[in-house]
Amino acid sequence: MDEIKTAGKGAVFTPPEKDEASESVGGRRLAKFFEQVNDAFEANVAEHKKALFSIIPDGATVVELGIGAGSNLRYMPNRVTVIGIEPNLYSWPTCQKKAEELGVQLTLRQGFAENIPVQTASADVVLFTHVLCSVKEQKEALCEAARVLKPNGLLLFFEHVLAPSGYYFTRAVQYMMNPFQYYFCGNCSSIQETGTNIRDIANKTELFDSVSVERFSPKFGCFVDRLGFTSPHVSGSARRTATPHE
Ligand SMILES: C[S@@+](CC[C@H](N)C(=O)[O-])C[C@H]1O[C@@H](n2cnc3c(N)ncnc32)[C@H](O)[C@@H]1O
Repeated sequence: MDEIKTAGKGAVFTPPEKDEASESVGGRRLAKFFEQVNDAFEANVAEHKKALFSIIPDGATVVELGIGAGSNLRYMPNRVTVIGIEPNLYSWPTCQKKAEELGVQLTLRQGFAENIPVQTASADVVLFTHVLCSVKEQKEALCEAARVLKPNGLLLFFEHVLAPSGYYFTRAVQYMMNPFQYYFCGNCSSIQETGTNIRDIANKTELFDSVSVERFSPKFGCFVDRLGFTSPHVSGSARRTATPHE
């Protein structure tokens, strides 16, 4: 698995011609697509994300899963160190350039949320934005996040989810679109119940407490707004309990 460190101007990472892990999440095609839609989306959610990220302590070690093109780097507080876990190597050059422009200390590692290549109890913050939608076994990824977090560390999330019960039309569109979304968008699902899963983990294990989940519906600033199936979102935080790590 690859790793690069970025802290100031350096040679830009060159992805290999072929890479199996990258292909499994959409390869070059999706890396380019996310890059193209990111800025329009970020303009719509900047205030929301700024508020969410404002609880990241200065100087924190932040592990960001599925960091993609690095669209969250702009919201990081001072002096953080970011470890970006990204399976798609074709997103790395853009992410690396963004970190350099913003002066953020970044290490990129190839890996998946279900098996995070980061040491136990080493992170102050674990961050997921639009990633848990692509994780089939969310509970596995959340337990991994708990393993990586220090006691009292913060889990932050910002994810699109299944619409609340009662929103029959949106739910019907979400179920209908789901196979296409899965196929064309790197295993992304429009029917995940991420907020509920995070609460469940906290209730059934002693891994997290102080769970806060907010529902909201941002615009993407592109064609998907017309269908609305990716509009229902949750964002929030949970705190890693101080129980010992295994
Ligand atoms: C929609 S993009 C979001 C990128 C970034 N988090 C953002 O908010 O702009 C989803 C990213 O998650 C990555 N990804 C997909 N499945 C993953 C998994 N199982 N573990 C970690 N990352 C994954 C994809 O390669 C992609 O870069």
